[in-house]
Formats: sequence, C-alpha cells, structure tokens
Amino acid sequence: MMISELKKEFESLYGAGGEIRVFHSPGRVNLIGEHTDYNGGYVFPAALSMGSTILLRLREDNLVHMKATDLPEMVEIDTGRLEDYRELSWGNYQAGVMNELQKAGYTICACDMLFDDTLPHGGGLSSSAAIEVVTALAFATLSNEKNGIKEPVDMIEMALIGQKTEHNYIGVNCGIMDQFASAMGKENCAIFLKCDSLEYRHAKLSMDGYTLLIANTNKKRSLASSKYNERRAECEAAVEALKKSFPNITCLSDISEEEFFAHAEEIENETVRRRAKHVVTENARVLKSIETLAAGDMVQFGALMNASGDSLRYDYEVTGVELDTLVEEARKIDGVIGSRMTGAGFGGCTVSLVKNEAVDRFIQEVGKAYEEKIGYPASFYLSQIADGGHEIK
Ligand code: GLA
Repeated sequence: MMISELKKEFESLYGAGGEIRVFHSPGRVNLIGEHTDYNGGYVFPAALSMGSTILLRLREDNLVHMKATDLPEMVEIDTGRLEDYRELSWGNYQAGVMNELQKAGYTICACDMLFDDTLPHGGGLSSSAAIEVVTALAFATLSNEKNGIKEPVDMIEMALIGQKTEHNYIGVNCGIMDQFASAMGKENCAIFLKCDSLEYRHAKLSMDGYTLLIANTNKKRSLASSKYNERRAECEAAVEALKKSFPNITCLSDISEEEFFAHAEEIENETVRRRAKHVVTENARVLKSIETLAAGDMVQFGALMNASGDSLRYDYEVTGVELDTLVEEARKIDGVIGSRMTGAGFGGCTVSLVKNEAVDRFIQEVGKAYEEKIGYPASFYLSQIADGGHEIK
C-alpha cells in the first residue's frame, strides 16, 4: 500500500490529527552462506524492497495499540507488563522487542501503531526480522527523542535486540544474519558479514544481464523451529567432538576445510559429521563467492550457489520435496546459472540467478511443473535490493 493510503487507514482506525511517523525495515534474501551464522561463519545476504512498515503516533498513557493491515484484531500492550505477551498469535514479536529494549534501558513510549507487511508471512524471507528491526528502530527513536539523546539509533544494536527477542521471547535460537541484513542492508549491495565479530562490508552486486529470482514453495512450515534448534545442537556436538584435536575451538568456523577433512573421522556420529561438513565447506564457498563476484564471474558464482544448495540438501538435510522440486525444475531451464534454497529451509523460498531473457520462461515452466508435482502453486518475486531499516520522512 502507498504511504498516503496507509495514513488514511491509520486515521480511520485511531482518529485524525497529530504527527504520524513512518518507519520501514526490509526482509532479506541470502545469496550464499546458509546455517553458518550461528556457527560464527560467513553469510552474504541482501535486503529486499519487500518489508515491514510502521505508522505511529504518540499517546498520552502507558498503552501501545497495534493493528496490521491484513489482520482483523487490534492488540493492546501495557508498557508496564511487557513480559506478559508471549502467547499472542500476532504482536508477540513486537512485545518481545519492546521488552528487550526496556531491559537495555530504553523508555517505551505509548503510541498507536499500524503495521503493513509486504513479505509473505513465514515464507523464509525474514518477515519476522523485518518486524523486529522496524519495531526496535521506531521505539528506540522515540526513546532517544524523549530522553534528549541526539545520536542516531545504532542499527547493529537494533539487530541484536531483534535476535535477543527470538532467543528470549519467541524461543528460536537463531543466528544474527536476518536481523543484521534487515538493519544494515544497502541498495544494490549484498552484505559480506562475519557473524562472530560482526565485521562486515557492503559488496556491490553488478547484476548486468542477470536477475535474482525468488520462488516461494508456499509450504506451511510446521516444526521448523524445533528442527532448526536441532541442527544447532548437532553443530555444538561436532565442536565437542573436534575438541580432542582442536582444544581451543569454540565454533565450527574456527577451523578450515583442510583441518576439518583431516580430522572429520573424530566425529563418530555420521549425521553430526555431515552437518559439520556442510558448515565448513559453506564458509569456504562464501569466501570463493566474494572473489568470484569481484572478478565479475557470474557463471562461477552460480556454480557455487548450486554447490551450496546440494550441501544443504544432502549433508545438512534442511530442504524437503517442495524446495527440491523448485530447485530441480529451475536448473532445467536454459539461462539459469544457479539455484538454491535460501534461509532456514524446511519450506520457504529458493533464490535463482537467471539470465534476464529467461525470467518469464522460468516463472511459467517452473510454476507449471511445481503445481503438477506438489499440488498447489508456487509464488515468484522480482524484488529489488534495497536499504536497511530507516525512517521515511
Ligand atoms: C534463519 C535464521 C538465520 C540463519 C538462517 C540459515 O533464517 O534466522 O539466523 O541461521 O536461518 O542460514
């Protein structure tokens, strides 16, 4: 929806008058570096033009009223009882963010809010991180103004607030990639991030002749968070086993591919060994991707995307028939030079690097084959690579 339409909707909900502020944070697509973030490794995500937008206006009491453009209910949050909203089916992420901000010393200002989300909910493009980061940015901005703090909001801190919300309020032990990408994205750039130190740089994506095409399985994800937490535990078990040879290892990204393969047999559990192999080889693929893109070699980058996707399918085992079908069908199309799942997996989306002239054919042929095999349609997005969280003035 356009901002002017959203303002009309806001005023019809909460009444006219006063200053209405607008904040936005994007979702993300990860190009390569999957399930490496909570292993201290490298990721390479980019922020999308789809995301979460908030309109808000201050209130005089201690209540926050929240409504989403696509949901009927209005949620009321008492800023004095922020621990109490974990069970909300919508609004729990926002309450969790307010709670984390309050614990970090921010003042939570009462306000009326309208959320407009353009990302598919639970579709693997970080709709949750977009909500967390935009909520954190909005409340931190209001708090700083109320307390006379002139410095701009620290967006990396907002990303960390979002991640803490997942850990402490939602119960997902996620890494930092999604929130970092939503907070720190830059137009036409991907973010090359090392997830333990949070060192990062923006890398320009020169997409000359190519499109990053996102395809959504539209699979309803169930148990995704428990399987996610299970993978995390398997990686921790691999680190424990490798301590025999590497007493100082704290995470899988502390060792190189060569070191891993020389000592892999010390991980007795075969499944755990394959999980670790994915992480270690994926880190190496991110580093190669950076070099490859700097050299303008898109074909080689596409090959690295494919290798990443295969490793996620066979070694990390986070795909499933829906993602596998999208990837298999995509790779059949002439003009597709790489295709892989993106995000946590278990459903969600794929990202494909496609020659511009093959995009229409991709959508038509992959869409048809997917629906025939899976029984319901996929969705396709041609999103731009956009800026991270900001206030829209
Ligand atoms: C989810 C998590 C991220 C990351 C990816 C997998 O999106 O939120 O932290 O672990 O899965 O790369």
